[in-house]
Amino acid sequence: MRIRILGAAAGGGLPQWNCNCPNCRAARSGDSHVVPRTQSSVAVSADGCAWFILNLSPDIRTQIHSFPPLSPQGDAPRGTGIAGAILTDAEIDHTLGLLLLREGCPFPVHSTPTVRRWLNRYLPIEPVVSRFTPRPWVELIPGEPCPLRTPGGDESGLTVTVFELDSHLPRFVTDPSEDPAGAVAGLIIEGPGGGRMVYAPGVARITPGLRAAAEKADLVMIDGTFWTGDEMIRLGLGTRDASDMGHLPVGDAGGSLEWLSGLAAARKVYLHINNTNPMLNDAGPEAARVREAGISIGRDGDEFGIG
Ligand code: MLT
Ligand code: MN
Ligand code: ZN
Repeated sequence: MRIRILGAAAGGGLPQWNCNCPNCRAARSGDSHVVPRTQSSVAVSADGCAWFILNLSPDIRTQIHSFPPLSPQGDAPRGTGIAGAILTDAEIDHTLGLLLLREGCPFPVHSTPTVRRWLNRYLPIEPVVSRFTPRPWVELIPGEPCPLRTPGGDESGLTVTVFELDSHLPRFVTDPSEDPAGAVAGLIIEGPGGGRMVYAPGVARITPGLRAAAEKADLVMIDGTFWTGDEMIRLGLGTRDASDMGHLPVGDAGGSLEWLSGLAAARKVYLHINNTNPMLNDAGPEAARVREAGISIGRDGDEFGIG
């Protein structure tokens, strides 16, 4: 199984268009210690031909151009290496790319029923896209393995199983009576050679389900949004802390770094990293702490092979 990070940043990317935080400034000025990153997305394939995209970011067009296997192969007038998309939540940074791929190629989208409902009721991506191109939708039920098929119906060799992570609602889901079950999922993806990865870009707390999945994984790709809980507030960039936004910080006491450090997985990678997170500065003490724990700070273009 081959895994490629298409975009390692959280919503907004690095640099974010309107942000003047230290990292965004450094990235904008070409500082080699703060490498620009596009928004949250990963591509996975068993054979190097049929690729499943985990979350479709608003940067998908740039990401496709930066990774040739996703472009048309052969001589057909239209084509793509994208065999399907899998959404972990309904957030704008993870779903807007679906609108941008409206020109055709009938690859299916996979999500929980809840995410699908919200992408009809509040952010109506499914009905809008379906006016342009058929976009079949496969509903993923937590705990039930789903073999991933190519648009032609062949087995891709990959199986996805979702597990529930959190009941955090996107800001645009405004009806408090909405059932939040399935709002934020993690993915377990298994390949034909027995390799197993966990993808969890939205982790509010280390749940028993995440713990169990990560303990059996060769590769763990996990939420690296914030270093500290009050990062946005301290920088004067917002009023909500990390837990209000559904993200467990990396570096705080009880944060994800403590847990990940002791995890046996061969590869551990932070993803969905917000531009304010000081670990994005390769020369800083936070990045050093993460590296010393044997964990990678994801970058666009990083590749992994497992199983
Ligand atoms: C998140 O990851 O918390 C969301 O994508 C926030 C947002 O950008 O709306
Ligand atoms: Mn996000
Ligand atoms: Zn910034």
